[in-house]
Amino acid sequence: AGRLPLAGKHVLITSGPTHEPIDPVRYIANRSSGKQGHALAAAAYAAGARVTLVSGPVTLPAPANVAVIQVESATEMLKAVEAALPADIAIMAAAVADWRMASEGTQKIKKDGSGRPPALELTENPDILATIGHHKSLRPKLLIGFAAETTDLVDNARGKLERKNADWIIANDVSPATGIMGGDANTVRLVSRSGVEDWPQMSKADVARRIIARAAEVLKT
Ligand code: C5P
Repeated sequence: AGRLPLAGKHVLITSGPTHEPIDPVRYIANRSSGKQGHALAAAAYAAGARVTLVSGPVTLPAPANVAVIQVESATEMLKAVEAALPADIAIMAAAVADWRMASEGTQKIKKDGSGRPPALELTENPDILATIGHHKSLRPKLLIGFAAETTDLVDNARGKLERKNADWIIANDVSPATGIMGGDANTVRLVSRSGVEDWPQMSKADVARRIIARAAEVLKT
C-alpha cells in the first residue's frame, strides 16, 4: 500500500464562528456553520495527516480522530492557534468576528428606562491569518485563507493574499441567493499568486478533499 499523501504532516485548521461577549448573557456572532472547516479537518485526516481543529461554537459533531480545541472568542482562537504551531499546512476557515467589545462588562446591561439604546463601543479583533502569515519562525509552509464576499470576489481575495501573506485564498460568493452560508454546497475559486482557478459547484466535503489533495501536491515539491 502507498503512503497516504499527508502522512507525517501536521495540519492546523480553524472553523466556525467566534462569539464575542457583550456582557455575561449576550454576544456578537456571525452565521458561520463550520461545515467547510470541519470537512477540511476530516479530509486532512483521511489523507493521513495529524490534524488540530481549533473551532468556535458550532453544532456539528467533532470529526473523528482529530484533536479539537474549542474556543469562543477571536482572542482565544489566536492563542489556541499559536499554541498548536508548528504546522506544515494551516487553513483558516473560521469566520472570525471583526470586532469585540472595547471593554467587556461583568454585569448584564439593563434598559435604563430612557428609551435610548446603549452605545456599544467596539475594538478590532486580531487577524489570526495575518498574524500567522507574518510569523518570523513559525509560518506554515502552506497557509490558506478563505474570503467570503458578496462583491468584487477576486480583487478582494487578491488583497487578502497580500495583506495577510497567505499562499492561497479560497474565495466564495456568499450572496444570500447562493445558499452557501449554512448550506452543504460551495462554489469557490482558488486565488494564488499564479492566478485564479474557478472550481465548479460541489459539496463542501468535495471542496475540502480537493483543497487537501492540492495542498499535498505542494508539500511534495
Ligand atoms: O478579512 P476577512 O475576514 O474577509 O478574511 C478572511 C480570512 O481571514 C479567513 O481565512 C479568516 O479565517 C481569516 N481571518 C482571521 N482572523 C480575523 C479575520 C479573518 O484569521 N480576525
